[in-house]
Amino acid sequence: MIRSRALPIGLLFAATAILQTACEKRPDGKMHFMGEPNPAAKWKPSEDITDFTALYSQNCIACHGAGKTVAASIAMDNQTYLNLVPADILKNIITNGVKGTRMPGFGEAEGGGLTGRQIEILVNGILAWKKPLDTSAGALPAYAGPLGNAANGQALFSQSFEKDRPPAETYLNPAFLGLVSNQYLRTLVIVGIPELGYPDYHGFIPGRSLTDQEVSDVTAWLVTNRKNEFGEPLAAQPTPVPPASLPAVPPAPNTTDAPKLP
Ligand code: HEC
Repeated sequence: MIRSRALPIGLLFAATAILQTACEKRPDGKMHFMGEPNPAAKWKPSEDITDFTALYSQNCIACHGAGKTVAASIAMDNQTYLNLVPADILKNIITNGVKGTRMPGFGEAEGGGLTGRQIEILVNGILAWKKPLDTSAGALPAYAGPLGNAANGQALFSQSFEKDRPPAETYLNPAFLGLVSNQYLRTLVIVGIPELGYPDYHGFIPGRSLTDQEVSDVTAWLVTNRKNEFGEPLAAQPTPVPPASLPAVPPAPNTTDAPKLP
């Protein structure tokens, strides 16, 4: 008789144990069967992601960092950068990338997979990190500018960095210089990557901030250190001149005034 009563009780315990292991507690605080569809974990097409943090973490943080995440390229929450970069340039670079570098274009035309709205969310989210900058130690140089005097740039560079020592060896590494654009070098001289030991324009040389002209000079010096695959120096690539400052094209010769053939 004992056996016949023990069996149902045993079965009840066994069934409860099975039920418990087959269930999980979900963030909604309720128990659910394992494998029961979880709406929160449902796959979303990527164009439905409109959360800035998710967009930045999925697309940018590995290369640019932010907050406590340190990455190889300038952090997008670098305050000097945020005060430097014009919003339309920020949007343009995210949309189209920088050709010939590792910066991909994220716009649909570039096959980047982000919608115009998502790029807008990224631009606004990045700019929302911006705080007023203290420029009392020296005015912020311009975002873009022509290449300056390389010899002067070299003199400034050697005031601060001994060649073949970090970070000088990174700035002058031909592999690094071959991967980035002239604009990025200028940006780097101005905003630095303080978290990796690359100073901004305030800390580049001892005692004072670099001026706008000196930023152009140092950038020119870095550009002249580019080498081709045979280790030969490449000619400095001139920064494109904005169309407005190009000399006026002379008017086409008036054909009616052309000398007549005898
Ligand atoms: C695979 C690495 C990689 C990823 C991913 C990446 N970037 Fe970049 N980014 C770079 C590199 C390298 C450069 C330097 C390009 C150059 O040489 O001009 C750059 C440059 C930039 C610049 C221009 C800096 C300047 O000189 O003003 C911006 C802005 C930027 N990235 C934003 C972003 C944002 C926002 C994302 C995410 C949507 C992103 N990047 C994703 C590698 C990356």
